[in-house]
Amino acid sequence: MTDVGIGQVAQRAGVSVGTVSNFFNRSEVLAPATHERVRLAVEELGYVRNTAARDLRVGRSRAVGLLVLDIGNPFFTELIQGVEDVATGAGLTVTLGNTKESAEKEAAYISLFLEQRVSGVILSPAASTKERLEQLRALGTPVVLVDDARDADSYCSVAVDDAQGGRMAAEHLYERGHRRILVLSGPARIHQVRARVEGALESARALGMDAALERAGAFSAPDARTAVERTMAAGRLDGVTAIFAVNDVMALGVIQALTESHRRVPEDVAVIGYDDIPYAAALSPSLTSVRQPSRVMGMEAMSLLLEETARHPQHAHRHSLFTPQLQVRQTA
Ligand code: RIB
Repeated sequence: MTDVGIGQVAQRAGVSVGTVSNFFNRSEVLAPATHERVRLAVEELGYVRNTAARDLRVGRSRAVGLLVLDIGNPFFTELIQGVEDVATGAGLTVTLGNTKESAEKEAAYISLFLEQRVSGVILSPAASTKERLEQLRALGTPVVLVDDARDADSYCSVAVDDAQGGRMAAEHLYERGHRRILVLSGPARIHQVRARVEGALESARALGMDAALERAGAFSAPDARTAVERTMAAGRLDGVTAIFAVNDVMALGVIQALTESHRRVPEDVAVIGYDDIPYAAALSPSLTSVRQPSRVMGMEAMSLLLEETARHPQHAHRHSLFTPQLQVRQTA
């Protein structure tokens, strides 16, 4: 009988590959009934964990390539932790690349992953590197997209319903009495936040709010600070009583620029962010933010990769879409 793979155990037990991985490494997170189903499947199939390596196709390294847009953003460090939680459970290591939103860096990392024959790639795309990803696929290397469900038929993906998240931010500001707001985003080429921005602007305008869009040079605190200073100098902040920053690290830069220009938060200008990074609650005033379950998203992305690795070529691409949650604190 050929070696039993982790994917077959998952199928027999009716759970994800990540759950089987947790059975061996973090059994405390499993409900008793789930734990028992996996135990029975392992027993019935005679699965022996050290065949996990054979779940990878011949000639593959035991490394997974992971590309993030900005390792300085705690959203991605949480995501990385989730990927690693599941990868180590399956006996794999993670090779991390930080693209800094650069298409050139992303292409260079993908070439490196091709040379290293990684067993799979997870990435939050810095550009539409479709042709590069096709090279990986041509080699039979599974790819999972994070924050990007554009190529829904070609790859598995994990994302949050960003349009809903943008609407949540606008509706919350409306309920707080704001009628003239600013949405601060970054470079339009990074499409991950496009749905977020469109959701907020459409909802604000449907509610009769005056909503304007400003763009910073990057999705970072320093660039957000510079963008708000530029907006203030141009008089485009006059009458604005709330700013929606499309991620929390930008919200930090917004608060810094407002404070340095003697505007109080939230009394003079309210601020709402996105991601709900671990430090959001620790700030003073604490940051109101639309939460993405970043660590769980990382775990799900790695589980989808294991599933595709184990079931290739019968695998059918899946798309996990999480629901954002508004975390109301002090800044809005
Ligand atoms: O990198 C920009 C943003 O995209 C991150 O903050 C995170 O929200 C991701 O979705």
